[in-house]
Amino acid sequence: MALREQIEGVIAQVKTLREQGETHLYLEDATLAELRKLAPKNAKPIAPAPSHTTGAVSLGDFAHAASAPASRGIPAKPSVRAASVAHDDTIPEPPVFELPAGDKQAQWNWLREKVLGCPVCNGHLHPNRKVVFGVGSLDADIFFCGEAPGMDESVQGEPFVGPAGQLLTKMIVAMGLSRESVYIGNIMNWRPKQATEVGNRPPKQQEMDFCLPYIKAQLAIVKPKVIVALGGTAANGLLAPAEPYRMGAIRGKWFQFEGIDLIPTYHPSYLLRNQLMSERRKVWEDLLAAMERVGLPVSEKQRGFFLKK
Ligand code: URA
Repeated sequence: MALREQIEGVIAQVKTLREQGETHLYLEDATLAELRKLAPKNAKPIAPAPSHTTGAVSLGDFAHAASAPASRGIPAKPSVRAASVAHDDTIPEPPVFELPAGDKQAQWNWLREKVLGCPVCNGHLHPNRKVVFGVGSLDADIFFCGEAPGMDESVQGEPFVGPAGQLLTKMIVAMGLSRESVYIGNIMNWRPKQATEVGNRPPKQQEMDFCLPYIKAQLAIVKPKVIVALGGTAANGLLAPAEPYRMGAIRGKWFQFEGIDLIPTYHPSYLLRNQLMSERRKVWEDLLAAMERVGLPVSEKQRGFFLKK
């Protein structure tokens, strides 16, 4: 296997563990030594393990060391609070605006124009990439909220169209719905910039703070009955707890955001990395709960999806 594939495999594993809420990983000294050889020359060293956990390294540091040379690394968790430590002067204060009078469609058109023309969003794009705004029904009962556009999305200018998006679309169809009958948006309207095209960097707190009024405005227009927060970044970004929640602890539980019921579930990209039936079932149960909450019928067949025979 090529070195690049091995590195990508390692990063995928680390991301999976991070999504499950792990923050540290036990490594043999010899393994650490090999990983150090892969790290770019100017990479910050892997954090020494606390004395009581010899061999344990932070997943963030590990991911950083294991990244391809041009990579800026992956923070330990989609940690909203931890990320906020890094101050980015290129992100101004969040926009303050009011939706114009008019019907849903007129308001949405106005907002879409505003976001697509937003100089800050556009200023953070890679060349030939697009700002990504939400899509779907303005009367949707279910509003899926993801983290940030990936590469496919920022090329096409539409949320959730890459591999994770295709899986999300299959899940929506399994619910008896379509992409057109739900609403699909992201906390972020641009793909967080990074030095490499490999992988996606979780957004920083300031980046999310800037985009939050845009997703709130979309919610104010659509007025869904339920928000499904896809992944830890979306859940923590919307709920803004004092300490970031671990997805393993909150998925399938009900919260409120701006007076709307919100259920966090694992991000579809997590399911692409972790193909266990048990993980698919967890997400499916969260989606069944969302269906029930909005009053959609659930057939016996649907109830049995991803259950072991
Ligand atoms: N991941 C997200 O969170 N959003 C997208 O639009 C695509 C991938």
